[in-house]
Formats: sequence, structure tokens, C-alpha cells
Amino acid sequence: MKLIVAVAKNWGIGYEGDLLFNLPQDMEFFKETTKNKVVVMGRRTLMSLPGGKPLKNRTNIVLTSNKKFKADGCIVCNSFKELFEELKKYSNDEVFIIGGGKIYNDLYSYCTEAYITKVDAITNADTYLHNFDEDVNWELSFASELHDYNGMKFTFNTYKNSNVCYPEI
Ligand SMILES: NC(=O)c1ccc[n+]([C@@H]2O[C@H](COP(=O)([O-])OP(=O)(O)OC[C@H]3O[C@@H](n4cnc5c(N)ncnc54)[C@H](OP(=O)(O)O)[C@@H]3O)[C@@H](O)[C@H]2O)c1
Repeated sequence: MKLIVAVAKNWGIGYEGDLLFNLPQDMEFFKETTKNKVVVMGRRTLMSLPGGKPLKNRTNIVLTSNKKFKADGCIVCNSFKELFEELKKYSNDEVFIIGGGKIYNDLYSYCTEAYITKVDAITNADTYLHNFDEDVNWELSFASELHDYNGMKFTFNTYKNSNVCYPEI
């Protein structure tokens, strides 16, 4: 599986349940990359989506420890064990971890690739991503040219994992 995320310079990814940045080009990249694919998210990230609704044209999988939790249009998993069972139905390449902090940081070792939009700014954050630049298992394999949106500079990056973990189920 793969991971897709937008990070600030200090690897901040969220504040008070919301994203840190609103970059249309990054949203477009996210939409195109995950279209018709399987997206895996934590319950808090689902709640942060417009109307708390799943993303259209994608298979949405939500993690929660609440066994009574139901969400229209979502497959609910109550543990990583359940998640990995569910993911056997899909090819590894079509599964994307889309957040938030808890889910990224618990699952990144199982990912083969990470699409990381790096924004050249630091804003107030309360949720952070593992620093891929300081992890010897992860290598930067692609970095785009610098983009600019209203003075906000950012790049699209791909990291590859040389030490992928495989779940024991
Ligand atoms: N920058 C980006 O690209 C990006 C992308 C997505 C999200 N975000 C940001 O990230 C923040 C949210 O992240 P977060 O860490 O607070 O929450 P989260 O990772 O979205 O969701 C955490 C929730 O997932 C469930 N969960 C986690 N591990 C589980 C497990 N092993 N088994 C069952 N359920 C499990 C729990 O739900 P229950 O409490 O229901 O048990 C937990 O409270 C927001 O600010 C959001 O905007 C940023």
C-alpha cells in the first residue's frame, strides 16, 4: 500500500481536526491519485471531510475502535487485524493510507511508497507525521519543481521504502 499526505516544513499535518493548507493543486493531485482506488483513514479524518461523508469514486475504509460505529458508504474496521484481512481483497498498489496522524504513523512501515507534498511553511500544528527525511529506510525518489499558490511554495515528492513490513495475520 501507499501513503499520501501534505506536510509543513516541520512535518506538521493538522491542527484542531483540520488540514493546515488549502492548495487546489495538491487537492487535484490527491483526487487524481486516489480516484477509483481504496482509501484507508482514521475515524477522525472521516469526521473532518465535508459533512463527515466518504470520498466519492473510492472504496472508503474507516478505522475505529467503536464497534457500533456505522457510516454510509464506508467499510468499517475495528482493528489493524481486521483492516489487513479486508485489504486482502485488493491489490497492494490500489490501497492508499490517507490519514490522519495516528493512522499514518502506525501504518507507514507497511507502505511501499509515500507521496508527500512538502509545503515550505510552518503553521500551528497539533498532529505530525514521522520525519521521512530522517528515516534510513525511506529514500526520496522524486521531487517536483517548486510550485507556487498565492505565495505558498510547495513540491510533490515520492519516497520509497526499502524495508517494507508485511502484516502477520
Ligand atoms: N496533511 C494531510 O495530508 C492530512 C491528511 C489526513 C488528515 N490530516 C489531519 O490529521 C488530523 C487527524 O489525525 P488524528 O491522528 O487525530 O486522527 P486519525 O488518525 O484520523 O483517526 C484516529 C482514530 O482512528 C481510530 N483508530 C486508530 N487506530 C486504530 C486501530 N488500531 N484500531 C481501530 N481504530 C483505530 C480511532 O478512532 P476511535 O476514536 O473512533 O476509536 C482513532 O481515534 C486532522 O487534523 C486532519 O486534518 C492531515
